[in-house]
Amino acid sequence: MCGIIGYVGGRQATPILISGLRRLEYRGYDSAGVSVIDPSGVTGDGRARVVRCRGKLAALEDKLTKEPAPGTTGMGHTRWATHGRPSDENSHPHRAGSITVIHNGIIENHLALRAELAASGAHFSSETDTEIFAHLVERAVQSGTTDLTTAVRRSLAKVRGSFAFVVMSDKEPGTLVAAKNSSPLVVGLGDGENYVASDVTAILSETRRVIFVDEGEMVTVTRQGVQITDFDGKPRVREPKTITWSAVQAEKGGYKHYMLKEIHEQPRAVADTLVGRVDLEHDDVLLDGIDLDPERIKRIVFIACGTSYHASLVGEFLVESLARIPVEVDLASEFRYRDPILGRGDLVVAVSQSGETLDTMEAIREAKKKGAQILAISNVVESSIPRLSDHAFYTHAGPEIGVASTKAFTTQLIATVLLAIYLGRRTGALPRERARELLAELLQLPNKMRDVVESGAQLQVLARRYGHSHGFLFLGRGAQYPIALEGALKLKELSYIHAEGYAAGEMKHGPIALIDETLPVVVLAPRGPNYDKVVSNLAEVRARQGKVLAVATKGDAEIGGHADDVILVPDSALELQPVLTVLPLQLLAYYVADFKGTDIDQPRNLAKSVTVE
Ligand code: G6P
Repeated sequence: MCGIIGYVGGRQATPILISGLRRLEYRGYDSAGVSVIDPSGVTGDGRARVVRCRGKLAALEDKLTKEPAPGTTGMGHTRWATHGRPSDENSHPHRAGSITVIHNGIIENHLALRAELAASGAHFSSETDTEIFAHLVERAVQSGTTDLTTAVRRSLAKVRGSFAFVVMSDKEPGTLVAAKNSSPLVVGLGDGENYVASDVTAILSETRRVIFVDEGEMVTVTRQGVQITDFDGKPRVREPKTITWSAVQAEKGGYKHYMLKEIHEQPRAVADTLVGRVDLEHDDVLLDGIDLDPERIKRIVFIACGTSYHASLVGEFLVESLARIPVEVDLASEFRYRDPILGRGDLVVAVSQSGETLDTMEAIREAKKKGAQILAISNVVESSIPRLSDHAFYTHAGPEIGVASTKAFTTQLIATVLLAIYLGRRTGALPRERARELLAELLQLPNKMRDVVESGAQLQVLARRYGHSHGFLFLGRGAQYPIALEGALKLKELSYIHAEGYAAGEMKHGPIALIDETLPVVVLAPRGPNYDKVVSNLAEVRARQGKVLAVATKGDAEIGGHADDVILVPDSALELQPVLTVLPLQLLAYYVADFKGTDIDQPRNLAKSVTVE
């Protein structure tokens, strides 16, 4: 997830680009850069000047005071690293010959394209997938297609993946060409000047007249106007809209809080985690340069904190059932204090959204000392935990701003599913046909998630109905037990209502004493082998006048008879159900907190990343 902006007009571009990037910095801050050209030819040598550097926008601003970039056409980028570590060389914009490119997204077939281009003499100066696109356009220009729009169109036919590109050519200095597939892109319309950006926030101080670019559309932007076509060059007629949101609302994409925005981003985030990792041809998982030797792995130990710990508990269920490798899960803050027995045969999987949690880092150091190999699952490229580890799997969820983790959690779940399938295929525990079914279901998951996150209205009603309660109980079995823990954690951290997550079968050993008509009990009861037992637990709650909110599978005709309220999620493979059942719990916690008026994005006493022990 990166932020992009482009400007064509009569004013100096750099200050406009920088002010836009400031509003886009929430999309990533590993590096920033601009490229500007002067169509009048008064300044510069007729080539676009690129100024870029690793670090936050402030570092770029500082650099620009020493290396100004004059001109009235330009583009700017703020980076969230995916392919290639954060560095000056990997910062955007990227150049090839007369072409300059910025990009948000992931080019899925980048390795094949890089090899092809290198074989025919291309030299690369970065590790990014983006630079490949600059070379493709440059080649198209050289091959006799002088028009930039046509060159971009021909190059788009060669790339697969998600992208929003903006491309500039030294030979057409008053033109920007942009294209969109899956990554956001908006065009801003001014008077004798026009804009493109990842999101309206970046251009809202300049114009409120915008066109949201659709999937598979290209835009050619000049001072005189914008032309939109599909990727085949067929014109598309689009009516501009006038934005009425405030700048702050716009930053949250029109949502009231970052958390709600991030809940809704989950289908997209999960799709991004899957990009390039599902190998349908071989019914296998590709782990992007991670070379695990299953022969060596005798045991897997997950270590993590908070929400990442809950993802690890689901990981235990998945790896044991699909790969048949013994798994343990430990809280990072406890791990070191019991002198853990570890050795060469252990693979430690450290799960951390931020990659900076000190407890997790210290646990890794301990595990390394004892000879275990370490795999990090993290959302932040080149953060401390992946750097400390032997291998890193990045979830690509994009920056998570809300302190309560949502999209980082569901993408961590996907990471553990992928790891379990990868190992299962190699240990032989997972038959090829089952792997094929699971991979096909994984690809359908974003659409099913979309269904659930759009059912917020029902959760809003339930939040109002139960939001006055003094406490909540969450129950689940098997892979749904960690989801019960996560549901309880979300509710307590956001709304400050006491909530406990419990293994459904353990209720009779204690928490049952809490149940009376004032206690809402959220029961995770999706279709599966534990269903009947969970329904018995429901009956035990109701027999004591507890209020039951059941999360069940669409088409379940029985559950209504056992629950006060039923929340339905689409059917899916047992292993993938946690990704769906957690979504209504996130929404419930969000709406209860909203109803109570707490500080949702920054709950009291909490921090996004905890760097103390
Ligand atoms: C903090 C955050 C949680 C997070 C936990 C672990 O407590 O508020 O949302 O789950 O740290 O963080 P990590 O970055 O290691 O996943």
